[in-house]
Amino acid sequence: MAYKTKEWRNEMRVTVDYNYMTANSLGDKGITDAELRAVKGKAEEAFNYVAANRGKDELFMGWTELPYNQDEIVADILATAKQVRKKFKYFVVLGIGGSALGPIMAFNALKHLHFNELPPKKRGGAPKFYVEDNVDPVRMQALLDVIVPEETCFNVISKSGATSETMTQFLIIADILEKKGLSLPEHMIFTTDASRGNLIKIDEKYGGKFKKYVLPDGVGGRFSELCPVGLLPAAVLGIDIKGMLAGAAYMDGLCSKPNIARNPALACAVLQYISMQQGKNINVLMPYSDNLKLIADWYCQLWAESLGKAVDYAGNTVNVGTTPVKSLGVTDQHSQVQLYIEGPYDKVITFISVEKYGCEMPIAHGCDDIPDVGFLGGHTMQELIQAENKATAYALMCAGRMNYTINMPEVNAFTLGQLMFMLELQTAYTGALLNINTFNQPGVENGKKATFALLGKKGYEAQKKEMDNAPSFDSKYIV
Ligand code: PA5
Repeated sequence: MAYKTKEWRNEMRVTVDYNYMTANSLGDKGITDAELRAVKGKAEEAFNYVAANRGKDELFMGWTELPYNQDEIVADILATAKQVRKKFKYFVVLGIGGSALGPIMAFNALKHLHFNELPPKKRGGAPKFYVEDNVDPVRMQALLDVIVPEETCFNVISKSGATSETMTQFLIIADILEKKGLSLPEHMIFTTDASRGNLIKIDEKYGGKFKKYVLPDGVGGRFSELCPVGLLPAAVLGIDIKGMLAGAAYMDGLCSKPNIARNPALACAVLQYISMQQGKNINVLMPYSDNLKLIADWYCQLWAESLGKAVDYAGNTVNVGTTPVKSLGVTDQHSQVQLYIEGPYDKVITFISVEKYGCEMPIAHGCDDIPDVGFLGGHTMQELIQAENKATAYALMCAGRMNYTINMPEVNAFTLGQLMFMLELQTAYTGALLNINTFNQPGVENGKKATFALLGKKGYEAQKKEMDNAPSFDSKYIV
């Protein structure tokens, strides 16, 4: 495996360039060395907090150990993936939020961008892949229109087994399979809590016949891509899951010092923290790569659910969190960048740049008599996208707008593992800097309970009553 040599790992190292965040580039709009020095102690504390609590299930920090403690699980997943690839033509993930965003992000990052349209041979024998991350009936019908249930393996992913969306997807599919006389355990794999939750109860009803993977106790949904939640779908697709975990471990090693000059995740956290204190409320992630487009969706959940919190550990009402925004280079240069350059000074833009794209695409010569078009001929698309990436960062800098760049040597399993782990660590450090609980999601829980009440679930009668007594809608506000 390439990632086993030190030279290759060094070549594939993901780095962060934050020049355009600093006063050195931005003058009085940038962060000064004195401001960085002022948070040195706090940054060390945040680092120490994360280091001291690594692996603690009770704090939901089990994700820090995923790169190291899954040898047996990985072997089992690879064996299952082999069977799935042999037996099935379609693989469908049923799940939502943290149980869906990771699998679809890794699929998009590491597989062909039109994977499902490729003939089987070009898919390397992998089944067609779908992730149902919603309960829109049109989407479910669209899925049912393109899959053949007899030839489909469904991976039901839910830690709680109580998420209405996932269990709705499950009920619909289970009914279809049963009506066709198909065995549920033969067509479904559960990824869920080790011993609790409704998927475990369903499995018991079927005599323990479902193949099950454990979503470990100390791993929350949004930190779960490197456990069976993400590893099984990735392995079915033929993604090098050992490489992904090796990349995460490599990044963990790069982040082992409490010093921003020697820890890229801590550097990003400190930059986000200082800019937050200076009123930058919007955190844009803008990869210049279609393969990395969905890392922005995954990151938006990671950042928003982890850091949008009402109270801190001291019990103070803080209502913290910056709003993550997903963007895509170069596409959004023609949509959002005008706002980023001339709008309010309320954003930090994080670019993800790729040094070597998955293929070359030369731009043909032509229209030499039309200089506005002719100058493109003889370049490559890679040169163009990279030039536009640099130019946008430069233009933002010239306009006094904070931005920094995460550099990916190329997009592969090892670099994606690094990127994910760095963003997870960055989120954990930022939460520690803000002195909040990064790993709960009380706001989301309240929404779930309100849905239960609206649909008449037993035990939520009081909540339903409360909702019925809320101020009624005034028709004057309806147009
Ligand atoms: O990050 C999270 O914890 C959430 O997004 C969950 O992943 C999501 O709500 C799904 O929960 P569950 O896995 O219990 O079905």
